[in-house]
Amino acid sequence: MCGIVGYIGKREAASVLLDGLKRLEYRGYDSAGIAILKDKRINVAKIVGRVKQLAESERIRALQGTTGIAHTRWATHGKPSERNAHPHGDCTSTIFVVHNGIIENYKELKQNLEQEGHTFTSETDTEVIAHLVEKFKKEGNNLETSVKKSLKLMKGAYAILVMAEFEPETLVAARLSSPLRIGIGTNEFIIASDPSAILNYTQEIVTLRDGEIAVLEEDGYTISSLEENRIIDREAEQVEWDLEQAEKGGFAHFMLKEIFEQPETIENSLRGRVMVDEGLVKLGGLDAVKEELRQIERLTIVACGTAYYAGLVGEYMIEEYAGIPVETCIASEFRYRKPILIPKKDAVLVLSQSGETADTLAAVSEAKEKGILSLGIVNVIGSTIAQNTDAGIYNHAGPEIGVASTKVFVSQLTVLALFTLFLGRQRQMSLTMGKRITEELLKIPDHVRTILETDKSIFEITQRYVNYPDFFFLGRKYNYPIALEGALKLKEISYIHAEGGSSGELKHGPIAMIDPNFPSIFICPKDSVYEKNLSNMEEVKARQGKIIAVATEGDDEIQKIADEVIFIPKTLEMLTPLLSVIPLQLFAYHAAVLKGKDVDKPRNLAKSVTVE
Ligand code: M6R
Repeated sequence: MCGIVGYIGKREAASVLLDGLKRLEYRGYDSAGIAILKDKRINVAKIVGRVKQLAESERIRALQGTTGIAHTRWATHGKPSERNAHPHGDCTSTIFVVHNGIIENYKELKQNLEQEGHTFTSETDTEVIAHLVEKFKKEGNNLETSVKKSLKLMKGAYAILVMAEFEPETLVAARLSSPLRIGIGTNEFIIASDPSAILNYTQEIVTLRDGEIAVLEEDGYTISSLEENRIIDREAEQVEWDLEQAEKGGFAHFMLKEIFEQPETIENSLRGRVMVDEGLVKLGGLDAVKEELRQIERLTIVACGTAYYAGLVGEYMIEEYAGIPVETCIASEFRYRKPILIPKKDAVLVLSQSGETADTLAAVSEAKEKGILSLGIVNVIGSTIAQNTDAGIYNHAGPEIGVASTKVFVSQLTVLALFTLFLGRQRQMSLTMGKRITEELLKIPDHVRTILETDKSIFEITQRYVNYPDFFFLGRKYNYPIALEGALKLKEISYIHAEGGSSGELKHGPIAMIDPNFPSIFICPKDSVYEKNLSNMEEVKARQGKIIAVATEGDDEIQKIADEVIFIPKTLEMLTPLLSVIPLQLFAYHAAVLKGKDVDKPRNLAKSVTVE
């Protein structure tokens, strides 16, 4: 995830900024850059690679001055390169910007600016901000007003810092849906997207809120609201976190932080892609293959582990709503079997968080070898899978640091729902259905927030069950893959034996294991297979098996059968996996912590599996 640091004060800005960038390294990045103002001139240094390389570069030694901005970039628009690294400048290279977030309407803004004569040098959305500020400055505005006028034209999410040679004593900061904090020192300010870049200098921090803009000078700052143009008086908070806590946003582990950031993760995956009134989705990465996709008659989804389970949910979604037959394969199997794939009729879709998984990558090569259209749903921009597939959709979930995948899984489900709508609306799906799905999708982040509020009771349930040696995770239809994912999560981080499966299969064998010592976690929302699932629960109950149910709010029936119930809000059946998986992630997390396991780095596992 991108990181921002800014400094205005009396010290050499470069050392504060580089120190801040190093503290942000844990967030993941592919390139870094810095801009420093001295004697009314701004000098810039950028690299693709590590902050250490930037710190040791020749260029950095020449950068002196006491005001500056810096950035670590995790590519979203345009591949990792020096050209795309921040800070980005305007046509005159006298106004510079660093930015976290996504400007949804940047293409339109860029086009207008180009028509007005602006020349762009990068592929990023961020560069439009520098050119907009340039445009408004030329109209006679000061830096603050130029930034405000620019922000009013932008749609999307941003945390930005802007500096300009025409107002060398000022730094401007602003935020919307992306964090930005101001560290208050003595005659100095350190501004950063993350407190870990500030805490070395001061613990007094003011947090900017959405729609606010701050103007900082060496001896003071003001905050005002963009909409109402009024000055806001906000007291600084004393942040007591140590640096390690700060990196984790105050959470005990990255995994917990990532579970709790899932509402924003889903929002980021949806941002700029949903058109509710038309019941359509906009997926720029598929533009080039749109017509080929209209013609395909079959889809094969290939992935590993958690991504494979997301693929299984996608199979249910696409078959039901787009009417295309789908087969989901484990990548390590796909590469050695004899897949029957017909050019122009078949397409292969791979899912991968890292974009580097060896088996998944081999599936892409196999598809290409056979002349089959290959698509990717990938989180890491510019990764090998992203490069090797013909087209694709990025997750925009930000880096996932916990080895056990959580937020990228929900992001994969979100993108699969978008892809289903895309394919469905190319075919028979009605406008009404398209609207219904898009409307429900947009409610999902708030539904996830509601579930996260019940964490305390999920923890208490986990406490009561953590000492059982075995668990079944059971579900049907859309929630069968969620049962598999729930079991995998528990195994991966707590090392408790867990089996995932279909509730309907129970009586064909696994039920032999049920006794009072073998609890089952049923994922049983009010959906088209609810009654069937209840019957399966009765089968377990009849054998004295303990039951924890994940059920829909207001379901009184289930409380009569299950020993424990965790409720999730009601949504469309196809979207229930986005909600039902959250309590299972929390259950696994709490079980691992209660057992004293290393949650973020479970034994024997690697974040990216680049070997066969
Ligand atoms: O990077 P990928 O999504 O391709 O990784 C696939 C699997 O290795 C990964 O999902 C793995 O199962 C995780 N440990 C799940 O938590």
